[in-house]
Amino acid sequence: MLEKVKELISEVESAVAKTDQEVENFRLKFVGRNNVINDLFDEFKSVPSEQKRELGPALNKLKNQAQEKLKELSNALNSQSSSVSDVDVTLPGTFGKEGSVHPISQTKSRIIEIFERQGFNVEDGPEIDNDWNNFTALNFPENHPAREMQDTYFVEKNPDILLRTHTSNVQIRLMNKKKPPIRSIMPGRVYRNEAISARAHCFFHQVEGLVVGENISFKDLKNTLYHFSKEMFGKETKIRLRPSYFPFTEPSAEIDISCFICGGSGCKICKQTGWVEIAGSGMVDPNVLENCGIDSTKYSGFAFGMGIERITMLKYQIDDLRLFSENDIRFLKQF
Ligand code: DAH
Repeated sequence: MLEKVKELISEVESAVAKTDQEVENFRLKFVGRNNVINDLFDEFKSVPSEQKRELGPALNKLKNQAQEKLKELSNALNSQSSSVSDVDVTLPGTFGKEGSVHPISQTKSRIIEIFERQGFNVEDGPEIDNDWNNFTALNFPENHPAREMQDTYFVEKNPDILLRTHTSNVQIRLMNKKKPPIRSIMPGRVYRNEAISARAHCFFHQVEGLVVGENISFKDLKNTLYHFSKEMFGKETKIRLRPSYFPFTEPSAEIDISCFICGGSGCKICKQTGWVEIAGSGMVDPNVLENCGIDSTKYSGFAFGMGIERITMLKYQIDDLRLFSENDIRFLKQF
């Protein structure tokens, strides 16, 4: 039996383990519940006592050595796995692609920022609205071509529910819920049944503006848009107002700014005229105020509407409207 113990001692001493499984095998054999050493201790009870003197210490040595060795083997394996890692920390990192704010959103934020500094608040309205808010209350005559199927996406007919064709519907909603003084801008998406091309799309974005109060005059309209234009396009920017027509404003004017590319001398962007159009505007027609329960003998107002795509295209000299909705990363990452 002493021979057997000595054999096991040398087996323990020379044991090596390269894997967790090998450590586990060692544990099961020498330390686990049914290990070989326990068997020897059982046998030990029945050996003659003169042999016990030598055998006892040898058995204890075997037991202690086996426990020590187990610790050693598992420590060695653990430290090996953390020091030999397959991560090379000296390699340059890989970065995910960073997104950016869409140019339309950037222009919208800039427009809001400029008007907020002029004391405007931001109002919101629905993209699906009824005929009254989108057309009738805005003084569109019954037979106005804009109401016809080719321009408007109808959701339901009789009563007419439609995708708004402009953000002016929010003017009506706002004047119905809030009485003057009103000083608001209303950004949002609008829809028109247009053939998609570089110059036209079936959806685009506008910012509507509305100011209603006592003694609001055309001078206030001009001043507001003058300051906006300087902030948006640069200090040297001049504006001019061209007479125009909108059913909901009287008088109406188209707002042009001096071309910020050529400074007014004529270029491709301004089609050699020195001026580019940025908005429609006018004094709110008294009929519109009255349609919303606002006394037109006491209050007056001005309104304007500008296309966010148009302003973005001018600012960044983009010549195709479709780029804004194609989600081509090569285009978007330039902003
Ligand atoms: N709603 C007009 C359009 O979509 C733009 C517009 C013109 C808005 C004049 C106004 C305005 O508020 O006063 O073309």
